[in-house]
Amino acid sequence: MLRPLFHFSEAAGAGERNGFFDAYRGPGDDFFGSVGSKPEIYPIYWSAAQMQARQSDRMARVQAFLNVQWKHESEGVRWFEPDRDSLYPDRIRRRPPGTDSGGLGTHLDPGTLDLWMTKAYQQAFRHLFDGTVEEYDPWDAAHRTDGPQYPGTTMCSAFRTFQGWTALSDMDHDQGVLHTVPIPAAMAYLMLRPLLPDVPEDDMGGVTINRVFPVSERLHPLLLEAVSGIPDVRAGDSVWWHCDMIHSVAPVENQKGWGNVMYIPAAPWCPRNERYSTSVREALLTGASPADFPAEHYEQSWPDRFRQSDLNITGRRGLGLN
Ligand SMILES: [Fe+2]
Repeated sequence: MLRPLFHFSEAAGAGERNGFFDAYRGPGDDFFGSVGSKPEIYPIYWSAAQMQARQSDRMARVQAFLNVQWKHESEGVRWFEPDRDSLYPDRIRRRPPGTDSGGLGTHLDPGTLDLWMTKAYQQAFRHLFDGTVEEYDPWDAAHRTDGPQYPGTTMCSAFRTFQGWTALSDMDHDQGVLHTVPIPAAMAYLMLRPLLPDVPEDDMGGVTINRVFPVSERLHPLLLEAVSGIPDVRAGDSVWWHCDMIHSVAPVENQKGWGNVMYIPAAPWCPRNERYSTSVREALLTGASPADFPAEHYEQSWPDRFRQSDLNITGRRGLGLN
């Protein structure tokens, strides 16, 4: 957690101003069906508040600090550029005071069956598959920044060193906040678990495309003992977790105060993120939902959305325009 990243105390008003919460038709997919959740995550990508945060100097400095926690050069390859972010557009979470929410079950973000099936990931996880598990380093970016991801209605084409969000409201630790299993190396357990003999041949532990990677009491009870919540956060704080880290959002009843965040990861410039940036540039021009997400396109008619002409130098570099 970094405190504070920004100084503001008011939730982003783009959705309210543009009548979004009256027009919203419900989730555009069933991505969180595998963890039995309907989280309050909304398809707003291009508000001025989100883009100004994504291209701000403070955000860039934080992302650079986070990126160098990773080994980004090895085998004679520079796998990513730690000082240049690719401005990955993601959604917002919004929960008004008084909300009852079931939260979001324990899961992983980086991918689904592609984690076992693609050549790039087989290389990234080589120590897990060749019997040298002790040498597996969750902070080594080797082979993570070039491979494809299997297509799905919701996916992450980008390589993220850290997933993260920036708080738009104060949230106490018992008001339905983020929990994690703060052990990046637990990925080794998750990847090997479905290969053990007690799991049927045709079952990858519930992992399948178009659904989030579930972490369950059935297969991973030892890991779930480590689930831990974040402390109280204030508006403007940011919270970051390693891209392979197991996480969930706790349920809440009659929530005190707002529970609003904007998801902004650290997604450093690399071949994989450069490829995806082509579609991000196109989506920004028309206000479309980015290619990784359901094609809902609520913002196309919003007059106050962020425009390409509003990009600063950091934003232009991040979208591959400089
Ligand atoms: Fe997630």
